[in-house]
Amino acid sequence: MRIGILGTGIVGRTLAAGFADRGHDVVMGTRDVSRSLASRETDQMGNGPLADWLAAYPAVRLDTLARAAAHGEVVALATSGQAAVAAVEQAGADSLAGKPLVDITNPLDFSAGFPPTLFVKDTDSLAERIQRAAPAAHVVKAFNTVTAAVMVNPTAVGGGDHSLLICGNDAAAKSIVAELARSFGWRDVVDVGDVTAARGTEMVLPLWLRLMGALGTPMFNFKVVR
Ligand SMILES: NC(=O)c1ccc[n+]([C@@H]2O[C@H](COP(=O)([O-])OP(=O)(O)OC[C@H]3O[C@@H](n4cnc5c(N)ncnc54)[C@H](OP(=O)(O)O)[C@@H]3O)[C@@H](O)[C@H]2O)c1
Repeated sequence: MRIGILGTGIVGRTLAAGFADRGHDVVMGTRDVSRSLASRETDQMGNGPLADWLAAYPAVRLDTLARAAAHGEVVALATSGQAAVAAVEQAGADSLAGKPLVDITNPLDFSAGFPPTLFVKDTDSLAERIQRAAPAAHVVKAFNTVTAAVMVNPTAVGGGDHSLLICGNDAAAKSIVAELARSFGWRDVVDVGDVTAARGTEMVLPLWLRLMGALGTPMFNFKVVR
């Protein structure tokens, strides 16, 4: 399957590698290809230069946000939350029409330090803002409640015995995303409803961040027991 990834941070890289390792044809999108390739920066999380990462994953190609979106039969949105709507606009709503748009972003505002606050919540969500920015895309909120390494390797935590929460308005798009998640090893994909359910899956983040602090690791997840 052709996959477009919007974003080059740890989530974009981890998903790009995860999809490429499973034989998908992956194009990762960035705002400015030349600048991203020239950058020798290591980010705050210790992720090294993108050019070095791409050299290690030659199957993944880097292009503009618009070309990555046009390439994907499925497109994953993995920019910072603050930039998510702008990235969708740069990618082009028309290129996303009719496609599953997997929204992994979280509406975190770090402007007042740590812990961050949520810049949209309760009566709206980032997923809904993204859906409004690309009305004909099929937004599926998924993977935002686990750390990047767990997204593509759920068995790294508790043998994989835990839950992935997804939501969105289009049943066929959710089915495609659930199948891709199962290809990563997810066994319990819980569909929590239409895109407004993202209010809940995004508002989990303050608790998730507290748990990370309490446990001293991001390698954990929630399990829905029933
Ligand atoms: N880190 C995790 O384990 C984790 C887990 C669950 C969910 N998430 C969520 O996943 C998303 C990605 O997280 P991350 O840690 O990989 O990366 P990040 O540092 O939050 O975001 C990096 C990406 O954001 C893009 N970006 C920044 N400003 C932009 C703008 N004005 N317009 C367009 N794009 C812009 C950058 O684009 P360029 O390539 O152009 O520089 C880069 O690709 C976030 O929303 C985060 O909350 C993260």
